Amino acid sequence: MAKATLVLLVISLVGVMQWANSTNAESWASRLEAEKENVTNLQFYFHDILSGKNPTAIKVAQPSADNKSPTLFGSIMMADDPLTEGPDPSSKPVGRAQGIYGSAGQNELALIMAMNFAFTDGIYNGSCISLLGKNPAMNPVREMPIVGGTGLFRFARGYAVAQTYWLDVTTGDAIVGYNVTVVH
Ligand SMILES: *[C@@H]1O[C@H](CO)[C@@H](O)[C@H](O)[C@H]1NC(C)=O
Ligand SMILES: *[C@@H]1O[C@H](CO)[C@@H](O)[C@H](O)[C@H]1NC(C)=O
Ligand SMILES: *[C@@H]1O[C@H](CO)[C@@H](O)[C@H](O)[C@H]1NC(C)=O
Repeated sequence: MAKATLVLLVISLVGVMQWANSTNAESWASRLEAEKENVTNLQFYFHDILSGKNPTAIKVAQPSADNKSPTLFGSIMMADDPLTEGPDPSSKPVGRAQGIYGSAGQNELALIMAMNFAFTDGIYNGSCISLLGKNPAMNPVREMPIVGGTGLFRFARGYAVAQTYWLDVTTGDAIVGYNVTVVH
């Protein structure tokens, strides 16, 4: 009887040791249970200024001059656009949108956006989210994926809904409202 109990004890200890090994199987890898996730909604305005002496977005590549694409297919812009709390450019700054957008549609105006939104206000100062996706800029409402983040937004995923608030069709200057929802 005592022998059987001892055998059972040994078997169960071996079981525990195997479990410990399987959750921490290698010296270079360890696993922790995830914290509960939060959902955060962010609403701000994006100021993309192409005109004037201090543009916030500049063309860095374009197709050859004999390419007369009506959608500017192949043109690429580098942007460092202010993000503000309200649509007025002088309203409170909350961050900057830094990255690349380019014309990726041959038959429609479809931008590919690869941008980092770096926040500077309050507790979000220093935290970023990454946006990557198609922006059919002439549509009144566009949805784009949020694919990651840093700081308070580590592990972020979600979506951004963009709506043009103001557009100067001759210069291309625009103010765009962003409504971002992320789980992180
Ligand atoms: C979720 O929010 C709570 C309260 O603000 C915070 O304490 C916690 O760290 C957050 N969790 C994550 C994973 O960000
Ligand atoms: C954000 O953080 C940076 C670096 O820590 C600091 O210099 C800056 O003043 C902060 N900005 C705001 C608006 O708090
Ligand atoms: C922003 O998105 C959230 C979540 O989808 C929604 O509840 C809210 O009404 C939106 N706000 C605006 C101004 O569209």
